[in-house]
Amino acid sequence: MAHAPRADWEDSVRLIEECAGLEDAIQGVLAEAFGRDLEAKLVDALRRDGSLAVSVAAGCTGGVCGYVALSRLQSPPYALALAPVGVRKAMQGQGIGSALIRRAIGRARALGYGSIFVLGAPAYYGRFGFSAEAAAAFPSPYSGPHFMGLHLTPRQDAPAAVIYAGAFDLLG
Ligand SMILES: CC(C)(COP(=O)(O)OP(=O)(O)OC[C@H]1O[C@@H](n2cnc3c(N)ncnc32)[C@H](O)[C@@H]1OP(=O)(O)O)[C@@H](O)C(=O)NCCC(=O)NCCS
Repeated sequence: MAHAPRADWEDSVRLIEECAGLEDAIQGVLAEAFGRDLEAKLVDALRRDGSLAVSVAAGCTGGVCGYVALSRLQSPPYALALAPVGVRKAMQGQGIGSALIRRAIGRARALGYGSIFVLGAPAYYGRFGFSAEAAAAFPSPYSGPHFMGLHLTPRQDAPAAVIYAGAFDLLG
């Protein structure tokens, strides 16, 4: 099954890294995608405490239509958490989320990070190379089929407990 971005949005969507000046628009996208404002608040808290390592927005004709964040973990030291990722409801299912995630992974690799962890649907994140097997040696309260890892370099972190940035306490 092909998961490449569809051609009908490729000309009208661009990926924007760093995202300075787009904070309010990103908040709006996340609040709409998740139907609540916790994820928008999470991104603000990550930005404030300096944990945000990679930030990618999708810019569409009408403004920002998608966003993904990678944040530094408290442990292991060279690992990141992927969360949140959200796409405006009307734009979902067109490959924008996949394009955001692939760009964020590429940026993390270029920055020299060792691993990315994510909690989510294996059917979705598996297509980017995440697997529960890759996270198995890294203890977490979320361990199980939905807690997945992706190792970016052969020089990955030694197995250690996965501890998210303190801002994630917002999600309870
Ligand atoms: C998850 C999300 C970011 C995906 O963005 P998107 O642009 O719609 O994704 P893409 O177009 O790249 O991929 C669509 C595929 O993802 C699948 N998908 C989307 N959400 C999924 C989920 N929660 N579980 C499993 N698969 C999912 C779709 O079924 C589709 O599969 P297909 O390619 O086999 O047809 C978007 O649906 C969204 O914002 N959802 C609400 C917020 C959310 O749940 N975020 C993820 C948790 S952190």
